[in-house]
Parts: sequence; structure tokens; C-alpha cells
Amino acid sequence: MCHAGRDHHGASKGLGYALGAALARRGWDLVLDARTAPVLEASAGELRRYGTRVTAVPGDVTDPRHRAGLVSAARELGGSLDLLVSNASALGAEPLVRLEELRPDALRSALETNVVAALGLVQEALPLLRAGAPGAVVAVSSDAAAGAYETWGGYGASKAALDQLAAVLAVEEPELRVWAVDPGDMRTDLYAAAVPDDDGPRPEPDEVVPGFLRLLDERPPSGRYTAAVAARR
Ligand SMILES: NC(=O)c1ccc[n+]([C@@H]2O[C@H](COP(=O)([O-])OP(=O)(O)OC[C@H]3O[C@@H](n4cnc5c(N)ncnc54)[C@H](OP(=O)(O)O)[C@@H]3O)[C@@H](O)[C@H]2O)c1
Repeated sequence: MCHAGRDHHGASKGLGYALGAALARRGWDLVLDARTAPVLEASAGELRRYGTRVTAVPGDVTDPRHRAGLVSAARELGGSLDLLVSNASALGAEPLVRLEELRPDALRSALETNVVAALGLVQEALPLLRAGAPGAVVAVSSDAAAGAYETWGGYGASKAALDQLAAVLAVEEPELRVWAVDPGDMRTDLYAAAVPDDDGPRPEPDEVVPGFLRLLDERPPSGRYTAAVAARR
């Protein structure tokens, strides 16, 4: 099997963990991060049961030294990178608030994690992404990037910026695949923090993973996809 290194930020729970588990089942080696070290280590331990190499690097993706550490851990796994997933995300305000109440530092926090850090990690990882098959980049987006939903303005603006970074990266790096993927609503801690009073039915993260796997299997052109549509391709 060819080396299948992967660098995946925001992977201790929610969608990141579900995707990591699906890839570990397929034999991928993984580099995972999250800020809460004990939760990350427990999740990495679960994934190691599938018999692949899983490196857990606790830290905050907004820290440039942490990003360098992630990429150097991926390099140690094999010298090239098949997939980089930008999954970690900040809402800015928790719970979400209308734009008239959104503090500048809350907006800056969403932009720092969802846009600045995502670009910083791509910049750090580009040599490894170009070195192998070549690799793919998944920027985990949101329908809030494209739709106008009350209170989702700051977070949605950051995801729209992330989408545009992905679109331009795809043009600048035509050998890579760069997919911005809207997973759709999921029952996760992030959603509960965004809208604590909304406990209506929504899919578990596992249920949206097939769309991501389909992208990896079929390698469609770079672009913006929803996980639900990708799963039906
Ligand atoms: N849930 C939804 O309905 C929904 C809908 C559309 C899009 N999305 C997107 O889907 C992605 C996954 O969200 P989720 O719902 O699965 O969230 P989640 O359950 O809260 O998981 C987020 C993961 O990222 C980590 N993380 C957060 N900030 C980080 C940082 N600064 N540095 C490193 N790791 C960090 C978290 O661990 P720590 O907290 O320990 O750092 C956790 O492992 C996000 O990009 C989100 O915007 C979610």
C-alpha cells in the first residue's frame, strides 16, 4: 500500500473524529490535533485499534509553532501527505449573536481559526502535498458560507473567506485537489454551542462521512461540494 499520511486539525470529536475513524479503518496513517490533550489522546488511542499509525499533536491551530509541529509529524510518517483536512473551527460568539451585537474580537477569533490558521497550515504543508501522489486539501465549510441565516453572519463570513481561499488555491495548485465541503448540519458540540436551545433532530457526524470518502475515492475536480451530494455521485 502506498503511504497514506494525513494531517487533520480538529480531530478529537465530532466530524473530525468520525472522518479519522473512517480513514483509519481504510488503513490511513493519521496526524491529529485538538487543544484538549486528554480528549485527543483518548480519541487517538481508539483509532490506533485499527492498526495504523496515529500521531496525536495537542495544540491550537492558530499557533504557527503548532502548525509546524503538525507538518513535521506528517513528514516523519512518510515524506508526503495525501490529505490535509482543515476541520477545526471557531464560532466567534458562543452562542451566536446578531451582527449588531457581534464584538470585533469575536469576529477576529472566527477569522483567525477558520481562515488565517487554515491558510497557515496549507502553506506549511504544501511541500509535502506536492511531494506524493499529489495530495488533496479539504476545507470544511458550511451552508452559512453561502446562505444568509440570522446570527450566523460572523462565522458565515469566515467560512465564505475559507471557500474563496480554497477556490484560489485550486487555481494556483492545479496538480492538487482542493475541495471546500459543506458537511450539512450535525449533532455536535459546535452546533450545541452555536444554538443551545435548538436540540431538533440532525444527523450524527458518521452519517456525513460517506460524502467525504466519495471525494477521496473519485477525486472529482477541485471545487465546492456538499457532503450529501458528494455521497450520491
Ligand atoms: N456541526 C454542524 O452542524 C456543522 C455544520 C456545518 C459545518 N460544520 C463544520 O464542521 C467542522 C467540524 O465541526 P464539528 O461540529 O464536528 O465540531 P466539534 O464537535 O466541536 O469538533 C471540533 C474539533 O476541532 C477541535 N478544535 C477546535 N478548535 C481548535 C483549534 N483552535 N485548534 C485545534 N483544534 C481545534 C476540537 O477540539 P478542542 O476543542 O479540544 O480543540 C474538536 O476536536 C467545523 O469546520 C464546522 O464549522 C459543522
